[in-house]
Amino acid sequence: MKDKNLFDAIARRYSYREGFKKKKVPRKDLEKIVKAGLAAPSGKNEQTTTFVIVDDPALVKTIGKMHRMPAMQTAGAIIACIIDRQPAAVYEGHSFQVEDCSAAVENMLLAITASGYAGVWIDGWLRLENHAQIIGDLLGVPPNKIVRVIVPLGVPAREVPRKPKKPFAERAWFNKYKV
Ligand SMILES: Cc1cc2nc3c(=O)[nH]c(=O)nc-3n(C[C@H](O)[C@H](O)[C@H](O)COP(=O)(O)O)c2cc1C
Repeated sequence: MKDKNLFDAIARRYSYREGFKKKKVPRKDLEKIVKAGLAAPSGKNEQTTTFVIVDDPALVKTIGKMHRMPAMQTAGAIIACIIDRQPAAVYEGHSFQVEDCSAAVENMLLAITASGYAGVWIDGWLRLENHAQIIGDLLGVPPNKIVRVIVPLGVPAREVPRKPKKPFAERAWFNKYKV
């Protein structure tokens, strides 16, 4: 299903970890998705996040089989988001590279959903057992950079129920924090 409306894509987005159909994700779609990432806001407009789009089936497989998640093992493509290993301060001693990367990833997840695909934000696993370094080496990422997030994506093989979110009244208030 494709979305014309942003709010439909927001409502339909979810983390898909099951298997994907054996369908290629065309480059024009991958470019559109990554352009959504490039369009995200970034601290001081530094645009720090860079991307490697993995669509070579052999390379997708090599990376995918490192993880036991079906979405990784059957991905049509994997997008790697890369930031500096030691992000420089750009504003009053603060770096925003993690936030820059996060904004880009969310934009891409919405674009993935709106384009009829599904995917999942993988971050925690990258930090275990040197996975980020191994994938970085496979992708030719320079030593001063690190793969911070990867997003396997494709055409979902099945529908998975979305996780319910806490209601508005539990997490958001007008004008004053409710304790
Ligand atoms: C910063 C961040 C890191 C995440 N890391 C992982 C991860 O390593 N593996 C994974 O399967 N999901 C990961 N997720 C996805 C979350 O588990 C998921 O968003 C959450 O369970 C809510 O489900 P939903 O995305 O379907 O709404 C991550 C999400 C965020 C925002």
